[in-house]
Amino acid sequence: MLKPADSSVTLSPLIANRWSPRSFDGVAEISDLDIAAILEAGRWSPSTNNQQPWRFIVAKRGDSHFENLAKHFAGFNATWAPTASAFILVVAVMTNEDGTARPFALYDAGLASAFMTVEANHLGIAVHPIAGFDREKVKAEYSLPDNFSQTAILVLGKQAPAAELHNAALVEREKAPRVRLPLTDIVIAGLPAA
Ligand SMILES: Cc1cc2nc3c(=O)[nH]c(=O)nc-3n(C[C@H](O)[C@H](O)[C@H](O)COP(=O)(O)O)c2cc1C
Repeated sequence: MLKPADSSVTLSPLIANRWSPRSFDGVAEISDLDIAAILEAGRWSPSTNNQQPWRFIVAKRGDSHFENLAKHFAGFNATWAPTASAFILVVAVMTNEDGTARPFALYDAGLASAFMTVEANHLGIAVHPIAGFDREKVKAEYSLPDNFSQTAILVLGKQAPAAELHNAALVEREKAPRVRLPLTDIVIAGLPAA
């Protein structure tokens, strides 16, 4: 299902057509080559002083990491996200080796997530980021240090028809139009005339 952005000007198809579906093909698989390309896209995103604070936990359906993450999904994420093919948990290392803070680490991790999302979409793989999962349990599962901040899990897979969600509320959400604040609300200064 396509839900292109309603934009005042023409956008790159990769940006215009990206959206976050919840209906995924429960048997489709993502190749290791595609996973590698997605990770490389994250690796090659910009970061503060090139600190590259992102760290990833990669899970593919059928491996132990997939179960380790899926069992900690919260609320309705637990119903739809496990039908996807892979997850990438994006973690930000919040301090330097000398213990000083990295105030932009979360920004950098978000950028890496965006790059990975665009690369995945380019490969025909849909991405839905989720913040709804139990971070304490995942932290314990992977013995993550205190200075590792879990941002979101990218849920990746092949999009399926909305009806396959088998839940009326979720189907309705899947079909709902994508909405955004207008530029006039979000540009504080310098709004272009176009
Ligand atoms: C950091 C982050 C966390 C999110 N967490 C969830 C989540 O836990 N569950 C969910 O269904 N969607 C989640 N979303 C998806 C957003 O709801 C979605 O991106 C937003 O509604 C815009 O829709 P679009 O991505 O289809 O344009 C999250 C998105 C981001 C960026």
